[in-house]
Amino acid sequence: MTEPKRIIVALDFAAEAPALDLVARLTPSRCRLKVGKALFTRLGPAFVETLQARGFEVFLDLKFHDIPNTVAEACAAAADLGVWMLNVHVSGGARMIESARERLDRMIRPPLLVGVTLLTSLAKQDLTAIGCPGEPTERVLQLAELGHAAGLDGVVCSPLEAASVRAARGPDFILVTPGVRPAAASLDDQRRVMTPREALAAGADYLVIGRPITAAPDPVAALADIEDSLPM
Ligand code: C5P
Repeated sequence: MTEPKRIIVALDFAAEAPALDLVARLTPSRCRLKVGKALFTRLGPAFVETLQARGFEVFLDLKFHDIPNTVAEACAAAADLGVWMLNVHVSGGARMIESARERLDRMIRPPLLVGVTLLTSLAKQDLTAIGCPGEPTERVLQLAELGHAAGLDGVVCSPLEAASVRAARGPDFILVTPGVRPAAASLDDQRRVMTPREALAAGADYLVIGRPITAAPDPVAALADIEDSLPM
């Protein structure tokens, strides 16, 4: 794809100061930012507004999963905040996703709506333990199909499943992949990973990358190294 901003930096910090220290060194023309549950619970919508005022597009990663009406209203609140992308858990079911879609379609500038298929921290044995035996890829494909039919713009999946989802769902379905690790980086708690270059080659549109950047001794250099590893 020709999208220049393929990297979404996950701002997984416990407080505002270190997050803003990093943000001050990043450029909105080169990356987007992801705000997740920890920082949002601590700092609220004002923090998202601060990032947007600095020119960044924000992926609000709150992974909504609730009854349809509650999720639809939560999505509307995120849209009012002006975020670029938001997400729900596909396992919340078709009616939950359809009601989020219908609610967002009434907004003037709806954010992209993507669905989490399987968390990239879950390995096959973890899935069995929560009552979902079988291959992760099969489950991801099933959830991607359900999400697509219910109106999602795309899904969040492991890069290991990106090629299968791309093949099944075609070129217009957005694929967001966390679980991305430069070759020399620590896996941390991720289990199903690929390098950034491999993830794009497999069909990912956007790469969510957290600790390989945020925990690096020089985060800006780490981001630049990752960009350099990607095809133009
Ligand atoms: O530090 P790391 O690169 O592992 O961060 C990945 C980010 O992507 C985290 O913010 C995590 O919450 C998020 N994420 C994930 N797996 C998903 C969806 C989101 O790891 N399926």
